[in-house]
Amino acid sequence: MCGIIGYAGKHGAKDILLDGLKRLEYRGYDSAGVALFEGNELRTIRAVGTLDALVRKVGPLDLKGTVGIGHTRWATHGGITEDNAHPHRSSDGKISLVHNGVVENFAAIRTFLLSQGYQFSSETDSEVLANLIAYHYQRDGKSRGKNRFLESVRRALLHVQGTYGIAALCLERPQEMVGARNSSPLVLGIGDGECYLSSDAGGFAARTKDVVFLSDGELVWTNGAEFSLTNLGQERLVAKRQELNWDPIAGERNGYSHFMLKEIFEQPQALENAMRGRFSSDGSTAHFGGLAMTPRELRQVERIVLCACGTAYYACLTAEYFIETMARIPVEVEYASEFRYRNAPMDRHTLVLVVSQSGETLDTLEAMREARRKGFRVLAITNGIGSSIAREADGGIYQHAGPEIGVAATKSFTSQLCILAMLALYLGRLRDMSFDEGVQIVEVLKAIPAQAMEVLLQNEAILHIAERHSRCRDMLFLGRQALFPIALEGALKLKEVSYVHAEGHAAAEMKHGPIALITPDCPAFFLACDDFILGKTVSNIHEIRARGGTIIAVVTRGSNIPNEIVDDPIWIPRAHAVAKPILATIPLQLFACHMGILRGCDVDKPRNLAKSVTVE
Ligand code: F6R
Repeated sequence: MCGIIGYAGKHGAKDILLDGLKRLEYRGYDSAGVALFEGNELRTIRAVGTLDALVRKVGPLDLKGTVGIGHTRWATHGGITEDNAHPHRSSDGKISLVHNGVVENFAAIRTFLLSQGYQFSSETDSEVLANLIAYHYQRDGKSRGKNRFLESVRRALLHVQGTYGIAALCLERPQEMVGARNSSPLVLGIGDGECYLSSDAGGFAARTKDVVFLSDGELVWTNGAEFSLTNLGQERLVAKRQELNWDPIAGERNGYSHFMLKEIFEQPQALENAMRGRFSSDGSTAHFGGLAMTPRELRQVERIVLCACGTAYYACLTAEYFIETMARIPVEVEYASEFRYRNAPMDRHTLVLVVSQSGETLDTLEAMREARRKGFRVLAITNGIGSSIAREADGGIYQHAGPEIGVAATKSFTSQLCILAMLALYLGRLRDMSFDEGVQIVEVLKAIPAQAMEVLLQNEAILHIAERHSRCRDMLFLGRQALFPIALEGALKLKEVSYVHAEGHAAAEMKHGPIALITPDCPAFFLACDDFILGKTVSNIHEIRARGGTIIAVVTRGSNIPNEIVDDPIWIPRAHAVAKPILATIPLQLFACHMGILRGCDVDKPRNLAKSVTVE
């Protein structure tokens, strides 16, 4: 949420900042801006709208400065205007700053700064931060000599309640850049005589792989050639440098019209990556290197609480079926935002597992912190290598799905389902699942990438179905058992990227209310591929047809659903119950993506949304 990029070095900052912002645009796209030094002058250029608007303004300018910061915004405080866009400048002109997060006590700080003669031209909490740093720079900085800028940032942050990832420049220190983080990610990139700052290593990964992930309460100072890491307590820290395992090409569209489409098609590979090296040599179970729990400890787990937000929450709902069926351990699934504020009764045999693609979702991070504060062991499943959740969890599993740039989660969801199914298998085998059943599940899982490929072959047919329904205003998604959360995910995907009103329900529940929505203009999208209670699902289909509803359905190839009751069938291969939620998801993603494109929506950057929600 909001993208930050900063550069201090020897090359022209303009192109580096614009390129970084392009790669970070998925984090916010209300407005964007850059500030960079031209000699001893600090220029700020901002524009409302997507990054293209900024590129049109900045592109033609001959700017040679080698130090600068940039930002792409997802509005929290203040409307979407140029004044509210970042970078913000202190009213004395000395400090320029980009900020991701929320300053909770901004009103009190603003009142104080007004009394000190500082002025404000925006409605944002971030401008308050720029002025607060300027205040400290002016007031008590003089005695600080060479560290004056860094010290003024540190002193300002001591007064801040809330969250921040920042990058700041100082007019009187044209070579220097300072960054800091508290609950909003910030990564330092180290190049040859140059340094980068970004809210996401993707902002500079094409230029350097040598990185330091900042922790909360840490500040970084750099003049390009050198950098230092300190904390709010002024202690000097040893930077833990890491090599980024990142393929910059994976962050490109590679000929696809949209990242969302590309990422849907990457699912067979992402599923392979989720499983690679994670099956036992006897082929009867899964194993994970990073769980940091012994089989004995895992056998003592009597209850699992799964916590996540959005699509990742639906992955957890599906996992409830996987874990309870395969491992017979009771599971509860909680929205992270709810869990963190309620004292859910848990005992010492409860294991908490959080799931987050980005590893930076603030509610999930805080839910994890609260569980850990209470003394519970917390495991994490995340795609965010080096993310806050990955670093703070007691143990966990990386998804290795590759960067997901489309704002709507696609490949990360099926990868989470796959890993959760493997975890259920592992826990099951540690308990009472037989060797033979374990072998069968391993074979089922291994077959999924090829089956996913088969489903993707129906892209064209799904496009035609979307064409037939692209004008509808409402849609119901209906499924049973482990396909019920997939119906919820199908509805979320359609809403997000096409703005069609959609609701997901357990199929039998639709008689208790949602069926009132059915008209010829409100199709019902059934997940009718569950062998177990297919007869009941067929009855639900008849009930909707009897009221004039149109039926789109994901159906198992060769199943005996009468042809005449489904208007638009989409076939998935015959598969085990564990594989079905993954395979049935793919048509829903393709359908939503095509509906969005046909309706003229930007499916990669849906309105009002941003990838990685780092505010509460
Ligand atoms: C929906 C979507 C969101 C995320 C949610 C959690 O398509 O992408 O609902 O799933 O914001 O994000 P992560 O998984 O990064 O914690």
